[in-house]
Amino acid sequence: MKPNTTQPDSLPVPGDTALAHLRALVQHIARQIAAAGGWLPFDRYMELALYTPGLGYYSGGSVKFGRGPDDGSDFITAPELSPLFAQTFAKPVAEILGATGTRHVVEFGAGTGKFAAGLLRTLDALGVGCARYTIVELSGELRARQRECIAETAPQFAPCVQWVDALPERVDGVIVGNEVLDAMPVRLFARQDGLWHERGVAVADASRFVFADRPLATAAVPAALAYVPGRHDYVTETHEAAAAFVRTVCSTLGRGAALFVDYGFPAAEYYHSQRTQGTLMCHYRHRAHGDPFLYPGLQDITAHVQFSAIEQAAHDAGAHLLGYTSQARFLMNAGITDSLAQLDPADPARFLPAANAVQKLLSEAEMGELFKVIAFCRGMDVALGAFERGDRSHML
Ligand SMILES: C[S@@+](CC[C@H](N)C(=O)[O-])C[C@H]1O[C@@H](n2cnc3c(N)ncnc32)[C@H](O)[C@@H]1O
Repeated sequence: MKPNTTQPDSLPVPGDTALAHLRALVQHIARQIAAAGGWLPFDRYMELALYTPGLGYYSGGSVKFGRGPDDGSDFITAPELSPLFAQTFAKPVAEILGATGTRHVVEFGAGTGKFAAGLLRTLDALGVGCARYTIVELSGELRARQRECIAETAPQFAPCVQWVDALPERVDGVIVGNEVLDAMPVRLFARQDGLWHERGVAVADASRFVFADRPLATAAVPAALAYVPGRHDYVTETHEAAAAFVRTVCSTLGRGAALFVDYGFPAAEYYHSQRTQGTLMCHYRHRAHGDPFLYPGLQDITAHVQFSAIEQAAHDAGAHLLGYTSQARFLMNAGITDSLAQLDPADPARFLPAANAVQKLLSEAEMGELFKVIAFCRGMDVALGAFERGDRSHML
C-alpha cells in the first residue's frame, strides 16, 4: 500500500552503513553515466538503482516490505497486509489449474514468501494441491527470507518449491505477480513548449544526479504519447520493460494463464490531460516522495502500470485477455468477504485486524480502486469467477 506523498527534506536520514551502501551505488551509477557520454535514459538509471547486483534496492539487503518504519521497511504490500489476500487469490488459481489439468504455479518477485505460503496452503485445502511452485527471484537475500517463511508457515509444501533466476522456457499452469510490473524500469518524457524530450540522468557534481532532457525527433516519440492531449507542459512515463516482460511471460505460456496485480490505469486515464507530473514515486520508511536521486539503493522507485500497454503486449504474444478489474471487485468476486465472515467477531484479537486489513484491500480510498488485476491465458480458456462482475476489459 502506498503512503501519501511527503517532502524529501522531512524524511528520516539513513544511518552510516546505509549511507556507505548508497555512496557505493552512486559511484557505480556515476561511472555508468560517464561511460555513456554523460547521459543515461531514466529507465537505465532506474534499473541500476533497483537491480545492480549487491547494491540495488531490490538486490541489496534492505528490509523493504513490512508493517511500518519501526521495522526498517519502506512499504507494505497486500500479501503482507493479510493472509486473506493469498487465500482469496487461491480460488482463481485453483480454477485455472483445474481447467488446464496442471499443477504448476510460477510466482515472480515473491517478496517475503507470505503469498507463496498462503497460496500453497489454500490450494491444498481446496483439493488442487500444487505439485511444483517456482519462484523467479533475482535477490539472494529475498530468496533466503522466502525459504525461511515457507519452512516456518507451510513446511509440508517446502519440497515442491524451487527458486530460479529466469522464467522456464515453457509454463503449463499459472503465473502470478503481485506488484512486480510497477517495479520495472520506465522511460521518462517531458513535453516542453509542445515538444517532447526524453528525460534522462546526468551528474551535476561528484555525488549529485540531475534530470537532463534531450529533444526527440518526431519519429522517435513513443506511440503511447499520442494519448497525451493538448500541447501543455507534461511529464510522463512509457513502460517498455514491463511490456517486454509480459510479452516474454505470455509467450512461455503453453497451456495456462498469467495474473498480475498492480496499481495503474488504462492508457486514456494514465495519459489524462491533468496528470501533468506523471506517476513516478519513491518510498522510504513508509513515506512517498518524488525524488529518485535522494537515496539510490535505499529507496524504492516505482511508476504506475499502464494496463493498455500490458494488454497489447500479451496480445502480441498470442495470449488473450481473461479479465481486467479493480482489486476490490476481483477479491469480492473471489469471496474475500465470505472468508472474513468465517472468523469469529467474538474473538476481537483475530477478527479486528483481519477486518481492518480487508477494509484496506477493498476500500476505494486505499487499495481497492487504484490496484487492478489483469489476467491472460494461452492454449486454454476459462471463465474466472473473479471477473464475473465488474469486468473492465472494455476500458483497455
Ligand atoms: C514491490 S516488490 C513486490 C514483492 C511481492 N510480490 C509482494 O507483493 O510483496 C517487486 C518485486 O518484483 C521483483 N521483480 C522485478 N522485476 C522482476 C523480474 N524481471 N523477475 C523477477 N522479479 C522481478 C523485484 O525484485 C521485487 O522483489
